[in-house]
Amino acid sequence: MTFDLVLFGGTGDLTWRKLMPALFQAWRHGKLPAGGRILAVARDERSDDDYRAFIKDKFAEVEPAKRPTDEEFARFAQLLHYKRMDLAQPEHYAGLKQWLDERGAECKVFFLATSPHLFTQICAQLGAAGLNGSDVRVVLEKPLGHDLASAQEINRVVRASFSEEQALRIDHYLGKPAVQNLTALRFGNALFEPLWRRESIANIQITIAEALGVGSRGDFYDRTGALRDMVQNHALQLLTMIAMEPPATGDADAIRDEKLKVLKSLKPFTAESVARDVVRGQYRAGTVEGQPVPGYLEEDKVPADSRCETFVALRTEVQNWRWAGVPFYLRTGKRLAARDAQIVVNFRPVPHPIFAGTTRANQLVIKLQPEDGLELHLLAAKGSAMNEMLAPVRLDLDFDKAFPAARVGAYERLLLDAIAGRLNLFVRSDEQEQAWRWVEPVLEAWRHDTAGPRPYAAGSWGPPAASALIARDGFAWAEED
Ligand code: BG6
Repeated sequence: MTFDLVLFGGTGDLTWRKLMPALFQAWRHGKLPAGGRILAVARDERSDDDYRAFIKDKFAEVEPAKRPTDEEFARFAQLLHYKRMDLAQPEHYAGLKQWLDERGAECKVFFLATSPHLFTQICAQLGAAGLNGSDVRVVLEKPLGHDLASAQEINRVVRASFSEEQALRIDHYLGKPAVQNLTALRFGNALFEPLWRRESIANIQITIAEALGVGSRGDFYDRTGALRDMVQNHALQLLTMIAMEPPATGDADAIRDEKLKVLKSLKPFTAESVARDVVRGQYRAGTVEGQPVPGYLEEDKVPADSRCETFVALRTEVQNWRWAGVPFYLRTGKRLAARDAQIVVNFRPVPHPIFAGTTRANQLVIKLQPEDGLELHLLAAKGSAMNEMLAPVRLDLDFDKAFPAARVGAYERLLLDAIAGRLNLFVRSDEQEQAWRWVEPVLEAWRHDTAGPRPYAAGSWGPPAASALIARDGFAWAEED
């Protein structure tokens, strides 16, 4: 299938940090359909060769295993083209159309890797230029809006030019292999389904911890905060994948309908429950991975009196028959003790212990980062005396070892899906709006809360209040357990 992939924001961070390395990997693995072109669009004047040289330089910042050799880059670079565009000028879209029409690829994908305030303008202009036929898909990167109203406005403008099936909203967490594994675990195996419910599960914890701070993105981050940056999208998407009912088919809409139902079943927040069930924090100076690091307020482009949260922990419930009363704890933060993303399913303890000594409930850990894997924590017989018999053991599945040749990164997967028109892993507008609807009372409560975020030392697991939140129910975060 011939395709043209147009990257708006072609010189920006997202393009050279994530998209180009992913496209290169797809090409290197022979997965990028032959006959494709990649057109980078940006504001300044450059030739194709200038652009290729720019991207080649940027690959120096990519991890070594994912860098091309000179010979590989020379071949990959043949796919790369560059076009200067002023995004406000209709005639520049006409020029783009002409460039695309000359070749008439079977599929055109417009990837908006620009600042989100340009999304509506670009979509409207693409529509006006007639670049919205059935052979076109448009891919939108987060953040899609900063609240429900702004997300709805973006969706309204996008919908004026593109159908729901043409507008692909990326949440790169859905492209992570661990999420595929979770779907396979739940719906490809019969083993866990009978246990996947309130009768067997005591609580579920979703943690997305980052060791990094806000780096050079201080101004963006300060307008965004962890709730908008990570909870509204990545953490909630993981929650939907854990909590959804088995879909009737593997079709994109069958899956997304079930995810939407989960989002609609989340217990709504009130001002009182925000005060009780949501903890926000902001990092202070500390030590991460042995290195001293500054606090958030000392970061570049962050106002010295910022009240922006760099950490959120919250407790919620999915109010339906399967999950009634089971707490779901979500936690994410920057400058935490480690880069570690995982979902922990804590099963209920045995109903009647007959062994003395160690008692631990079973735990299923779905690991997303740093490596993806699956661990099942069991108790097994160790000694012979009744009081020393049980010891914790782990069944540990490392997917890199199980399927060494098959690993595909999140952006690689999502870009290939966008080109092929596979929509399963893209977020539908109603899901995205429902997620905003759910977080809005939290944003609202924080606007009126004079206390501000709680401080935590960089390199810790967040403010002590996050441990207290879960301890209240008689549980502990996995690393404290
Ligand atoms: C992005 C957030 O969506 O996800 C960043 O904007 C965050 O703040 C990043 O660092 C985390 O992604 P990953 O794949 O590195 O866990």
